[in-house]
Amino acid sequence: MAPGASVRHLACIMDGNGRWAQNRGLDRTHGHMAARSAFDAIVDGALGEGVEWLTLFAFSTENWARPEEEVSFLVHFLAERVIKRSMSRLHQRGVRLRLLGWEDPRIPVDVMDRLREAEELTRRNTTLHLTLAFNYGGRRDLCETVRSLVSQGVTPERISPDTFARHMALPELPDVDLLLRTGGEHRISNFLLWHCAYAELVFLDVLWPDFRAPHFQHALELYRQRQRRFGTLGPATTPGPDRPADDGAAWSGADGRPALPAAPALPAVPALPAVPDRPGRTGPAGLLGLPTTIASHLGNSLLNGLKETARFALLHISDDHGQSHGPEPW
Ligand code: IPE
Ligand code: IPE
Ligand code: MG
Repeated sequence: MAPGASVRHLACIMDGNGRWAQNRGLDRTHGHMAARSAFDAIVDGALGEGVEWLTLFAFSTENWARPEEEVSFLVHFLAERVIKRSMSRLHQRGVRLRLLGWEDPRIPVDVMDRLREAEELTRRNTTLHLTLAFNYGGRRDLCETVRSLVSQGVTPERISPDTFARHMALPELPDVDLLLRTGGEHRISNFLLWHCAYAELVFLDVLWPDFRAPHFQHALELYRQRQRRFGTLGPATTPGPDRPADDGAAWSGADGRPALPAAPALPAVPALPAVPDRPGRTGPAGLLGLPTTIASHLGNSLLNGLKETARFALLHISDDHGQSHGPEPW
């Protein structure tokens, strides 16, 4: 990703309200009420940074399992918070509000009516698409999509990622660039499972009611430091259409598709000193046979990394001496 690249779709799991209140000896509902300034901060931040899509997780399909009073508060408070207090201001600023989720008999009719009115009022706005995920769950979104495909008679061979996306609850919703979660938990909690396939994940420890402009900027800063590769070798080795290769010839494959440039040469690695491991096994080769007791302390991923490093070193040693005594190149 080019430094300073912008976020088109920011999705946020606004978490930590309950803990914020409990930390102060208050009832959990006070935490939800205290989140108004955080809501303003993220909307203002999105508008200021030219984010086109902002999707906020307001109430999940799993949140119905909370105590009845809290559920009732949350459901009413959303209409109160978003509609009554903020809507005219949001409308003036060109925000289009939309709901993502499903109607439910447990959602009072007047709450639903107010939300639908707000959708209608802002229908023509284009500056920021603000989507409230309300009674939303990623798995249900996927199930409903399959239902839609089946009920419309879409045959299996016509099902592709594009077709699938067109049958989702909100087909226009683009892939998420940055998924931000406050509250310190490192999980997705069934949010936008399809759209987050290649999202950059940023988890902040700040509890949602304390979220302000500097937290927004910090999240953006972390995002800008990421290198998004989408399965390629990254921008340095896979120029895209808006970043043509220096050598035009490298940019067209025989089948008309862009050809991937050759991978860069591996950096030279200094020879590793011989480290006795077991009798008869020295140097990097010894790493390949680390005893399992050590492996369990290192953890599998670290061990695999060490093994790859050892293989890499062995290959270079083989090249240097013009003979092969290591494993096959991978
Ligand atoms: C997020 O805050 C708000 C909703 C889930 C609606 P929580 O209520 O989950 O707060 P914590 O995570 O318990 O602190
Ligand atoms: C996710 O938060 C849902 C919303 C923010 C609306 P939760 O607090 O419900 O998630 P878990 O239960 O910690 O995974
Ligand atoms: Mg929570």
